[in-house]
Amino acid sequence: MTGSVPDGVRPALESIELSLGFGAVTVLRSVSLRIERGGIFALLGPTGSGKSTFLRSLNRMNDKIPGFRREGQVLLEGESIYGQRGDLMDLRRRVGMLFQRPNPFPMSIAQNVVAGVRAHKMAPRRELSAIAQRRLEQVGLWGAVKDRLGESPFRLSGGQQQLLCLARALAVEPEVLLLDEPTSSLDPVSTEAIEALIRSLAPELTVVIVTHNLGQAKRVADHTAFFHDGHLVEHGPTARLFDSPAEAETARYIASALG
Ligand SMILES: Nc1ncnc2c1ncn2[C@@H]1O[C@H](COP(=O)(O)OP(=O)(O)O)[C@@H](O)[C@H]1O
Ligand SMILES: [Mg+2]
Repeated sequence: MTGSVPDGVRPALESIELSLGFGAVTVLRSVSLRIERGGIFALLGPTGSGKSTFLRSLNRMNDKIPGFRREGQVLLEGESIYGQRGDLMDLRRRVGMLFQRPNPFPMSIAQNVVAGVRAHKMAPRRELSAIAQRRLEQVGLWGAVKDRLGESPFRLSGGQQQLLCLARALAVEPEVLLLDEPTSSLDPVSTEAIEALIRSLAPELTVVIVTHNLGQAKRVADHTAFFHDGHLVEHGPTARLFDSPAEAETARYIASALG
């Protein structure tokens, strides 16, 4: 190991005094957060508190939005993702993303799973069907789709479509997975399946999950950060944050969300 910082110490992702806005509106002010490698990190807070904007800044998904402004830095394994050498395609492979609504591509189920593998030329053509099978097995979808791999994904249930998108995201072997309220459009059974899968991904993968569901943060996350009104209010081990919040804003939010 040649780096100056030992592996266990350097976070997978780090934001440093990161401020984000659109035009005249400032969405988040000076957020500094270290996301440890191999953990599951929840971003919690009321609607409009800037969770999605923050999450999307971690793989430069806001860049194309008109008026987007950024000050401060985001480091992936110690290197700025907004630096000169940034290769967006490579960044998005290393830091994958799943959205609130499943977004399968208009191609067959099997082609969906390997779409990124093909785009990044990660495997020869003859290996693609084995890769598709392995990823569909990993997300628990193989049994349901093995006889319809050539069919459209749009007839699958919402939960199955989200699992398919997860299989597609995992197939390119990301280091970090960003999940923006990935179960908010799903029924309880699908939600449970997705949560179990998320837990199974650590510690090989670092997961950052936005949720406004306290129960979900408690069930899946080692660490939780609470955002409110454009600020990072506090963060810490999930149980500590819920059992003894340091800030009154956090305590109020927890009480109102439970009550
Ligand atoms: N594309 C955009 N243009 C202008 N304002 C935006 C845009 N996206 C989000 N915002 C504003 O940023 C704030 C935070 O939004 P968001 O990050 O989506 O919050 P959350 O995910 O916590 O609900 C909101 O006030 C929202 O209106
Ligand atoms: Mg959001």
